[in-house]
Amino acid sequence: MKRKMFCLLLCLVMVASLVAGCGTKSTSGDGAASGKSSDKLIGVAMPTKDLQRWNQDGSNMEKQLKDAGYEVDLQYANNDIQTQVSQVENMISNGCKLLVIASIEGDSFGTVLAQAKKKGISVIAYDRLLMNSDAVSYYATFDNYMVGTKQGEYIKEKLGLETAKGPFNLEIFTGDPGDNNARYFYGGAMDVLRPYVDSGVLVVKSGSVDFEKVATANWNTEIAQNRMDAIIASYYADGTKLDAVLCSNDSTALGVTNALSASYKGEWPIVTGQDCDIANVKNMLNGKQSMSIFKDTRTLASQVVKMVDAIMKGGEAPVNDTKSYDNGKGIVPSYLCEPVFADSTNYKELLIDSGYYTEDQLK
Ligand code: BGC
Repeated sequence: MKRKMFCLLLCLVMVASLVAGCGTKSTSGDGAASGKSSDKLIGVAMPTKDLQRWNQDGSNMEKQLKDAGYEVDLQYANNDIQTQVSQVENMISNGCKLLVIASIEGDSFGTVLAQAKKKGISVIAYDRLLMNSDAVSYYATFDNYMVGTKQGEYIKEKLGLETAKGPFNLEIFTGDPGDNNARYFYGGAMDVLRPYVDSGVLVVKSGSVDFEKVATANWNTEIAQNRMDAIIASYYADGTKLDAVLCSNDSTALGVTNALSASYKGEWPIVTGQDCDIANVKNMLNGKQSMSIFKDTRTLASQVVKMVDAIMKGGEAPVNDTKSYDNGKGIVPSYLCEPVFADSTNYKELLIDSGYYTEDQLK
């Protein structure tokens, strides 16, 4: 009898611990792990593990917050909007004192953030702005417009657009329409390139120029690849030269270069990117991608940790921009880090000497 009771108890304990381990929660930190709310618990919501950069952002944030004495509830949402909203709800009910959110879709947090505000929980939008909510305390990112202008300027300079008559053939790939950044990247680049499209020096044979037409859902590599495959088949299969492809980031650039490798026969075009993901740096080194924008995720994380620390100590967070980012409910005070141009000539200094990657990772 005693033995049966013991087995029953053991089973109950096992089932309970299985249930507890089933969620997506990957909480770290003593208070959180024991299920107790802690005065030092910070919720960090990241969009997806699919893209290299968010893994780096998440681990940099976790490490730097822990080094500063905080406990961290770090969650990834597999690019699923509803999952991310639930994760943030859980962070609030689990007693997080501050939320750092890199959203999948900036517009989907209205109700949840209202709950946070009610409870006096500060919210920092990480990299991507949280839209249409008055509960967003701060925004920390890289200068997104500048990312776009740097990509546009690169194409302008390499094609010599100021003096050359062209016409040059250009195709355009930007990011997810639910990510506020995508419009800034596209806007910055097109502010440089559009005059040349209007004057006919740049020709977009596919006819896809407007943001909605060149957006890539979820910044997904395959979606970009499929669109580029179709464009090559329709407009460049007869040997027509493609001169440049404006890609807002590396995951779209990867799709574009995959398609070019598979079926484009002409001289290789200029291809832009952003993030300096390993696969793309390798492509830069073997001539398939011309440049990328380097956004050192360590810098962004350390800026956000400074913000967290200031807020948690009851002060104001450091910002350097109080006019650029209106989320629909007002200007969100922001800290903009500076993006840097990277190509095969300076990657060593930027990426290896700085310890971002090892030489071996790029082989
Ligand atoms: C980020 C980029 C990233 C893209 C796709 C944007 O919001 O700013 O660095 O490449 O999302 O994840």
